[in-house]
Amino acid sequence: MSEKDLDQRTLQVMGGYGLEKSVERESLAPPLAQSVAHPFESAEKAEWVFDTEANYEEYGGLQGYIYTRENNPTLDIFEDRVALLEGGGGALATSSGMAAISMAALFELEAGDEIVVSNHTYTCSFELFSRTLPRFGVETKVVDRPHDLAQWEEAVTNDTKFMFVETPSNPVLYVGDLEKLAEMADSYETKLIVDNTIATPVLQKPLEMGADVVIESVSKYMSGNGTILGGVVVGDDPYIQEMRRLEYIQYGNAMAPFNAWLSLLGLESLDMRMKKHSENALKVAEFLEDHERVNRVNYPGLESHPHHDLAKKQMKDFSSLLSFEIDGAKEDAFEFLNSLELIPTATHEGSSRSVVCHPASTIFHRLTDDELLDAGISKGLIRLSVGIEAPGDLVEDLDRALSRI
Ligand SMILES: Cc1ncc(COP(=O)(O)O)c(C=O)c1O
Repeated sequence: MSEKDLDQRTLQVMGGYGLEKSVERESLAPPLAQSVAHPFESAEKAEWVFDTEANYEEYGGLQGYIYTRENNPTLDIFEDRVALLEGGGGALATSSGMAAISMAALFELEAGDEIVVSNHTYTCSFELFSRTLPRFGVETKVVDRPHDLAQWEEAVTNDTKFMFVETPSNPVLYVGDLEKLAEMADSYETKLIVDNTIATPVLQKPLEMGADVVIESVSKYMSGNGTILGGVVVGDDPYIQEMRRLEYIQYGNAMAPFNAWLSLLGLESLDMRMKKHSENALKVAEFLEDHERVNRVNYPGLESHPHHDLAKKQMKDFSSLLSFEIDGAKEDAFEFLNSLELIPTATHEGSSRSVVCHPASTIFHRLTDDELLDAGISKGLIRLSVGIEAPGDLVEDLDRALSRI
């Protein structure tokens, strides 16, 4: 039976580590190879494994483990599992989500190239594209109304090296039309790179909708407990192999084996957690939408969300990140955060535990007022990552804190 035929709920538990491998390695749970290097049975074998060209040509990939910056038995299982879940030909596990994004970007680029990116992205991605890459001679065209496909069309040319979209986006939950953006990328013979962190492959499969590359911050939902920093790049097999041979080993982006091992444990419950996250977030979003001290709630699961129909079409559920604008100034937002008794203020999302933050003064604090305005981040905006606790307790905590402002 091919792994490709298995349901994702099965793959998240045993993808990349089926019956045969677990018997061969005499371990029911995936083994942790917490080692920097992997000894060879002979000098001849070492020489043969290092002849990567021959390995790739003859077998389509490395035929032995070398050094953890290049490959590792635990990372291998994690990468196979994520590639299966995303529907890609291969994956590379990286030290963080940003390591995945910067590597995927640099892989495509030379000085003089141009890229087209949405401004509704996590702030470090936005700054990488709009401030850092231009220092190396890359021209970045920022689409500041990314729901407007005409704006993308205006920016993309046959020289565009890639388009980048994060959907749903952090923190205002913009939803990008993946099929249309992928069609556009195809028609200009460019690549569409998608940040799928907030949906995860359980709720959304960009590669099946025509995207070329998916990146994820594994630090979030995929690992699920807020214990590790990690990322992953997923694409077709030749793309991943070429990246492994060059950028991956040169930039030293590999995920730590222990982090891959913890992430494998986290992945086992991804489907169940995403269901519960989504169920809880909808309840909380509905409560907030009806609250008199809340002006606006951004959550793609609400019918009031401008891209609700699109989100329903391309996602299985709506995940757990939401944001809302309180009726008041920054001081009121702070008062609200300081009045919460259960939900901590922390710059994180996608863990079992709920967390809140004030994006304008924390994660997005380096953006100018105009950039904040364009990205829809006001001084009264609160971001909430809804966990898997009992929703009644969360609502009670939010209600109590809202009554203090
Ligand atoms: C949507 C999204 N993508 C990427 C990242 C970066 O991930 P990491 O913190 O693992 O580098 C984040 C982090 O907050 C994020 O929210």
